[in-house]
Amino acid sequence: MRHFRTDPLPAGALNALLALADLAPSVGNAQPWRFVRIVDAELRARLAAHVDAESERAACRYDAERAAAYRALKLHGLREAPELVAVFSEAAPVAGHGLGIATMPEMLRYSTAMAIHTLWLAARAQGIGIGWVSILDPIVVHAMLRVPADWSLIALLCIGYPEDEHDTPELERRGWQARDAAPVETR
Ligand SMILES: Cc1cc2nc3c(=O)[nH]c(=O)nc-3n(C[C@H](O)[C@H](O)[C@H](O)COP(=O)(O)O)c2cc1C
Repeated sequence: MRHFRTDPLPAGALNALLALADLAPSVGNAQPWRFVRIVDAELRARLAAHVDAESERAACRYDAERAAAYRALKLHGLREAPELVAVFSEAAPVAGHGLGIATMPEMLRYSTAMAIHTLWLAARAQGIGIGWVSILDPIVVHAMLRVPADWSLIALLCIGYPEDEHDTPELERRGWQARDAAPVETR
């Protein structure tokens, strides 16, 4: 999802979606996700400029032909989407009392990814689209958003109504990458 209509979500819709995301499962029931709604237009513009710059750096890593194909892709809707939400994961939440993270502390971040997926499905059920923007430097975005030091950035999300609906991923339609059935190995 990168092609958004600019019209706003209905009043209360975003908070209702975030409340559904709060129902996601998490390690130790730690609920480590932290949502930051971006409302400042100047901050939005700086985020979009940062992602464009990182995207151009990424393009330069390809050979000329693939770089041209990459540059032709639209990879974020940061300027158009009516809502932007950054999602962080707290590294040592009080909730959960450390249950389940002694050997795999990354379970907290996986839990936050679960909350994002829950948010994503809840949004789609209402015809709302979500685009996950990952072409960014998390340290730079963390500094821009001035959040606590022990929050790590998991996602920058664009949220709004899609311009159009498709059953096939855009990257497949544009010949970049089709869906592959994952092989299952049994031992
Ligand atoms: C963790 C994650 C990060 C992603 N980052 C980006 C991104 O930076 N830009 C983008 O355009 N799409 C991004 N996507 C979307 C994927 O490209 C998209 O989900 C995939 O092409 C399949 O398309 P579909 O979601 O339409 O089925 C991301 C998806 C995930 C799950």
